[in-house]
Amino acid sequence: MKLSNKIKSLIWYHTIDLGEGNRTPGIYDHRPYLRFYGIPDDLSGKKVLDVGTASGFFAFEMEKRGAAVTATELKKWQDHDFGPLYVPDKPLKVLQSYLHKPFDLAKRILHSKVKKRKINIYRLSPKTVGVFDITFCSSVLLHVRDPVKALWRIRTVTKEMAIIATGIHSDKEPKPLASFLGNQSGDTWWLPNKACMEAMVESAGFKKWHWHSEFRLDYRDGSEGVPHGVIHAFP
Ligand SMILES: C[S@@+](CC[C@H](N)C(=O)[O-])C[C@H]1O[C@@H](n2cnc3c(N)ncnc32)[C@H](O)[C@@H]1O
Repeated sequence: MKLSNKIKSLIWYHTIDLGEGNRTPGIYDHRPYLRFYGIPDDLSGKKVLDVGTASGFFAFEMEKRGAAVTATELKKWQDHDFGPLYVPDKPLKVLQSYLHKPFDLAKRILHSKVKKRKINIYRLSPKTVGVFDITFCSSVLLHVRDPVKALWRIRTVTKEMAIIATGIHSDKEPKPLASFLGNQSGDTWWLPNKACMEAMVESAGFKKWHWHSEFRLDYRDGSEGVPHGVIHAFP
């Protein structure tokens, strides 16, 4: 099959430039948003973990900046934190192929050396994946029922800094508050305000943190997305 047809046959989370005029039709295009994440320009010599990589845009970007990158993704579609009433909107085979096929194709075309681990965020530990100078976890915490446990597992594998991007509730209350959306499809369970996000980061055992940015992550087609915050946390 021609590469352009292979690209078209898959569902892409990210817009990735694969060279020679081939670009993936991502649900999102993160390229104009990159500066909001505060990823160091030079990652030479750094070991980086990209948690919940999807089609891998950030993993490949961090590799381009010099890092040795490991990317994680769920093994099976059913491993998501769905609610008990969840009913898939597509055949499981289609949903399952979304998890790995786009990443695998992009990795091959980009001649990337990013390593892939099929593991749930709740199982991250020095024993299961090792430790990393920098961990990167973007737009994953909103999909899990227990974001504190997820952050805690990230902290155990972070040596220098965790870059955490997540959906943030616009409530400016100084009190830690989270809106419970409880979405059965696992789309969004919790939307913390900034004070709550800081309290969760602290509860997970990080010693210091600062906000890097706030922005609204819109879809590639221009429709309105979720307001996000990026917090850098230090163990
Ligand atoms: C919204 S996408 C974000 C992709 C990418 N990190 C980014 O920011 O562009 C969320 C990703 O996290 C993965 N994910 C969801 N629940 C997870 C869990 N419990 N453990 C690990 N990964 C998970 C999903 O499969 C999906 O690829």
